[in-house]
Amino acid sequence: MTQLLNLFDYEQAAQEVMAAGAYAYYAGGVTDNITLRDNRAAFERIRLRPRMLMGIDAVSLETTIQGEQMAMPVMIAPTAVNRLAHPEAELGVARAAQGAGITQVLSTFSTTAVEDVVAAGHRTWFQLYMAYNREIVERMLERAESADCSAIVLTVDLPVAGLRENLNRVGFTFPDVLARPHIDEFGIDLSGGWGVFVRDHTKHNLSWDDVRWLQEQTRLPVWLKGILRDDDARRAVDAGVQGIIVSNHGGRQLDTAIATIDALPAIADAVGDQIEILMDGGVRRGVDVVKALALGAQAVLIGRPPLWGLAVGGGAGVAHVLEMLRFEIENALYLCGCATIADVDRSLVC
Ligand code: FNR
Ligand code: LAC
Repeated sequence: MTQLLNLFDYEQAAQEVMAAGAYAYYAGGVTDNITLRDNRAAFERIRLRPRMLMGIDAVSLETTIQGEQMAMPVMIAPTAVNRLAHPEAELGVARAAQGAGITQVLSTFSTTAVEDVVAAGHRTWFQLYMAYNREIVERMLERAESADCSAIVLTVDLPVAGLRENLNRVGFTFPDVLARPHIDEFGIDLSGGWGVFVRDHTKHNLSWDDVRWLQEQTRLPVWLKGILRDDDARRAVDAGVQGIIVSNHGGRQLDTAIATIDALPAIADAVGDQIEILMDGGVRRGVDVVKALALGAQAVLIGRPPLWGLAVGGGAGVAHVLEMLRFEIENALYLCGCATIADVDRSLVC
């Protein structure tokens, strides 16, 4: 068994315990995996310019996003079907997030009901795929609101499904035995696989009109996930959304799309003082979090690492993943001469 010293070790260990198809679904990207690799490579290219002799007694990782307290600038990204990893599924993740004091964004494709996740978690936001059928969306919003979710995250980078050649190769489809409480109540058949579901049910002509419609349907703050350009970020400001998540879907949609850490600075320059900005994609180390904060994100989200934690050790595995990341961020802040998140500025990177 691999020694579990960091988030990469968890992926290795997860691969050893998971069924090959499920691992391929979690780990994979699209076509040539260029964006998937580049999300990491772009972080690795950035160098830090640490400040010395700052006389720091203690480091604090606390921050607030949309006015909500978080123990560290890390959130759980929405990922589908966590039960593929472990029976504790999204509930195990929720308990770990509760222990770590961080927000979990729950996927439309959760295999656990939103009500149960909110009850177990710290704070829960609900991620939405816009269905053609507005009744489905209204029902999801109603459930998310009455369960006490505190934001709606509209994923905007999936008008059509990306080309998941790796899944065609292994013949992976979502196993029927997995309940998806927010999909199943509409009797939707998923046996044709992810691509067929997206084609038949998610709105391929999603537009800024849908963003406006969504804002009228919910009293919750709305976030847009999947923004990669400064002009889109400006439109998000004009639309009056709470915030944006700079994301390329973990390299799972448009291959050769720009790495998120490369996309971030232009977006932060354009709208950083007008709207909250989060980012995800390839965050695996404490130094990655520092780089994202330095380049203009208020916090990051992690997608695959909690899944690896879940696969290896259920909720306890997720908790360990979050503890390791927390420890690394603390270490990086000390070494960069920063006592708080607010001390991290652009001059730290080059
Ligand atoms: C995702 N992602 C995703 N995003 C979303 O908005 N709704 C979803 O249901 C899913 N499902 C999903 C499943 C799996 C297995 C993965 C790996 C990813 C994308 C996710 O929220 C996030 O953008 C990326 O995972 C971030 O990249 P890293 O941290 O995985 O590198
Ligand atoms: C994925 C979908 C569920 O990335 O967002 O697999």
